[in-house]
Amino acid sequence: MVLLDGKSLAETIEKQIIIQTNFLKEKGVTPTLAVILVGEDPASCAYVSMKIKASERCGIRCIPKKLSQNITQKELLQIIQDLDKDEQIDGILVQLPLPKHIETKFILEAISYQKDVDGFHPFNIGRILAGVEAFAPATPLGVMNLLQHYNINVSGKNVAIIGASNIVGKPLASLMLNAGATISVCHILTQDIAFFTKKADIVCVGVGKPGLIRADMIQEGAIIIDIGMNRLNDGRLVGDVAFESVSQKASFITPVPGGVGPMTIVSLLQNTLLAAKQRKLKK
Ligand code: GUN
Repeated sequence: MVLLDGKSLAETIEKQIIIQTNFLKEKGVTPTLAVILVGEDPASCAYVSMKIKASERCGIRCIPKKLSQNITQKELLQIIQDLDKDEQIDGILVQLPLPKHIETKFILEAISYQKDVDGFHPFNIGRILAGVEAFAPATPLGVMNLLQHYNINVSGKNVAIIGASNIVGKPLASLMLNAGATISVCHILTQDIAFFTKKADIVCVGVGKPGLIRADMIQEGAIIIDIGMNRLNDGRLVGDVAFESVSQKASFITPVPGGVGPMTIVSLLQNTLLAAKQRKLKK
């Protein structure tokens, strides 16, 4: 069994980003990312803090906006429109989920697609679906880069994706399909997840249920990508895979932490760098 070490790959990619950021800065361009956090959800605060720290390590300027849980949709839209008009800002990220009184789709659609470094705007979603170059959401992009780094070619493989969110499952299915895989996407209404995982060469899971994927549910030699992130009562951070037993049957597996998580952060930085190049170098 080989551990898919996202932590060390992310460190290598960060070094490449630093070189490229320095190159841009010599040309007078500072990649700049606005990060919007609404409310004080502890998990969202933790993710945003990791994103800001990683950006700063790589020389990407960060503009954090911490906003009240009670902000109105109109006020939030105004803030986004102002950031969108600001020529200095290359990327705008709105941490999800948003409070229930705010319609996420209106917020995401207010960001112009050129600054949508999270890849959540319908324009970018559509282009990813069509297999055309676009900003891909960070977690699916991180998964694809991790697989590629370990020379795992998904073409012709059976892939089971557990979780059909707009952030992870659906865009990951598009990227995998574009790369030639055959995809099954399971979700909350799927009656027999094991039926799909048992046939899969690659299982990707990200639903927030510790221990959901057990050894008896996978093929011998399967490749396991654990996108789950769960904090147990004893404080341990675990994914959605029963790691001890599944890792004995898998050929490759991501650890949690240290697998997909660091790849997600570094993919956001790659998208921000790309946005800066596209907006500021071509003029
Ligand atoms: N919430 C959970 N994952 C993500 C992500 O990748 N981006 C944003 N903006 N919010 C999230």
